[in-house]
Amino acid sequence: MKHFLSLKNLSEKEILELVNSSLRIKKFPKLYSKKVKGKTMLMMFEKPSLRTRLSLEIAMNQMHGNAIYYSLLDSPLSKGKETIEDTTKVISRYCDLIAARVYEQEELQKIAKNSRIPVINALSNTDHPCQVIGDLATIKEKFGKLKGLTLAYYGDGNSNVINSLIHALPKVGINVHVFAPKKYFPDKKLWKNINLEDKPRKIKADIIYTDTWLSYHVKKSEYSSRIKIFKKFQVGKELLGKALFMHCLPAKRGYEVTSEVIDGKQSIVFDQAGNRLFSAKAVILWCLK
Ligand code: CP
Ligand code: NVA
Repeated sequence: MKHFLSLKNLSEKEILELVNSSLRIKKFPKLYSKKVKGKTMLMMFEKPSLRTRLSLEIAMNQMHGNAIYYSLLDSPLSKGKETIEDTTKVISRYCDLIAARVYEQEELQKIAKNSRIPVINALSNTDHPCQVIGDLATIKEKFGKLKGLTLAYYGDGNSNVINSLIHALPKVGINVHVFAPKKYFPDKKLWKNINLEDKPRKIKADIIYTDTWLSYHVKKSEYSSRIKIFKKFQVGKELLGKALFMHCLPAKRGYEVTSEVIDGKQSIVFDQAGNRLFSAKAVILWCLK
């Protein structure tokens, strides 16, 4: 049984398999429903979502499976009536696959440990592997290759999307350059695989990437200090140069990116979001293999 919790422990081969499979599914969507037909995925979500929820749900539906959205806010778990362990054991008896969007990665580990069925991480505070498979598929689609490219990331260096980018991109030969305030550097264990600087500057990159400064898990009381500290890291026309612009979305124009950049010709954010559907299918099929 294969869980999909993080890209940290996936090999280059496994990552490329998922990326290539996403692009094959995009080209030949009809070929990929046999394994999913009649299967049910339970989507237990503790945070809001547009892209991840819809891409996973539609992926299941288009492959003739079912998806049930279960807001954890409505669960006995959230009312303190039931443990995550018992909740998972029950879900495992009804369904074939779990997609979970939770706060702590440790919660996901608990879900996986108590599950008889594969578990997909639909975003935790520290990892967003579904996002990055879709991102890599988009990069391959745009550049025709992955190896040798350079991605520069500006902003919050200590969050789920950048962590997953760092887990995966160096493995497939993409150079990652992170610009973040020291307080928001990625975990030290990740430093050896990237270039890291605490002052934003323009570099020759193929892709410029940023993420919200105000992630779902960030407390409202931190918003104003974050906006202040990240201000210098905003991606504007000057930093962008000739690169393509990527963002996982949701985006806040005027914060991490200017409208001019995200709505400009070099922005590929909606192609990127669109590809989440094909990578969702690839991840589901990988788990049900
Ligand atoms: N990029 C992404 O995962 O978006 P949602 O939070 O809308 O799912
Ligand atoms: N870092 C962002 C990603 C959203 C897809 C968040 O966690 O809110």
